[in-house]
Amino acid sequence: MRKIAVLTSGGDAPGMNAAVRAVVRTALNAGIEVYGVIRGYNGLIKDEMVPMTLRSVSNILQQGGTMLFTARSPEFMTLEGQQKAAENCRKRGIDGVVVCGGDGSFRGAQKLSQQGINCICIPCTIDNDIGCCEYTIGYDTATNTVVDLVDKLRDTCASHDRCSVVEVMGRHAGWLALGAGMAAGATSIIVPEVPYDFQKDIVDRMEYTKSLGKHHFIVMVAEGIGDVDELAKDIEKATGVETRATVLGHVQRGGRPSARDRILASQMGYYAAHLLMAGKTERVVAINNNTLMDYDIDEALAMKKPFKSKMFRMAEEINI
Ligand code: ADP
Ligand code: F6P
Repeated sequence: MRKIAVLTSGGDAPGMNAAVRAVVRTALNAGIEVYGVIRGYNGLIKDEMVPMTLRSVSNILQQGGTMLFTARSPEFMTLEGQQKAAENCRKRGIDGVVVCGGDGSFRGAQKLSQQGINCICIPCTIDNDIGCCEYTIGYDTATNTVVDLVDKLRDTCASHDRCSVVEVMGRHAGWLALGAGMAAGATSIIVPEVPYDFQKDIVDRMEYTKSLGKHHFIVMVAEGIGDVDELAKDIEKATGVETRATVLGHVQRGGRPSARDRILASQMGYYAAHLLMAGKTERVVAINNNTLMDYDIDEALAMKKPFKSKMFRMAEEINI
């Protein structure tokens, strides 16, 4: 292994920069040349890659987003695109690529490996929806961002004796809603993993907590559950409590990574570079029970992460 590349792909996540920095510096320290690929798989296809130095990753540890830019690349979904990407790697003498992204990006890495380029994946997504890995890079920062925003919403919500319905991201997963719902004291948390009943899980809970003296309410809803404006109207009608809906949107993906995400990204970047330098391919880096480990991509993609139902029930009991 003489030259490697690193790219960021799919939705950005705070901490991606810290992962890129760790990969670059670990490889350079071992005497390996490193290229930074611009805009994910598109950069491989268009041959947009820049040589990285120890200093080209200075001052990015604390920055959100990704200095390498990111993209979703329909062209890379085709065999032609994958062949072109591999050909460009070979032309530059690149033997391996570290891919920072979500499960879609891992599927892309599998395809690139099939074209003869070794690939190691680092889970970066605010959704925390990677089956083999307890915490993904970006999840902690996004959870903190949501909590901060909901704290602000609560100020106005409490002043007006209102209910706030808050829609958070997560694609098809409720991890962000669960973590932020627990930490922000949401009266109800609605996630795709747990079937919900409007009357029992929202209206009755609001009435119950109201009878205990509560006069403002946060209903945390994972995206994809339904129209939150409609839900707010239904809640107002059923409870008589004035209700507003807020969709937090892309603000959840931005911001400086938390210390936890910077540490996780640095560890995973270091680990991934070493896997690649050891000649490994088609592996996904993961952390479980505070221990770094790696899985075969196929195995990783097939794994289902059990939802933290105990934590969900705990939040229900405490947030009254
Ligand atoms: P994420 O990595 O955040 O899950 P996407 O699902 O959008 O994001 O995937 C990112 C990119 O990975 C896609 O735009 C595409 O270029 C590549 N990719 C995803 N799935 C495949 C696949 N089955 N084959 C080849 N490339 C893929
Ligand atoms: O996967 C990260 C994520 O932010 C999801 O939570 C959300 O569903 C999606 O990406 C939004 O994608 P886009 O940036 O393309 O709107």
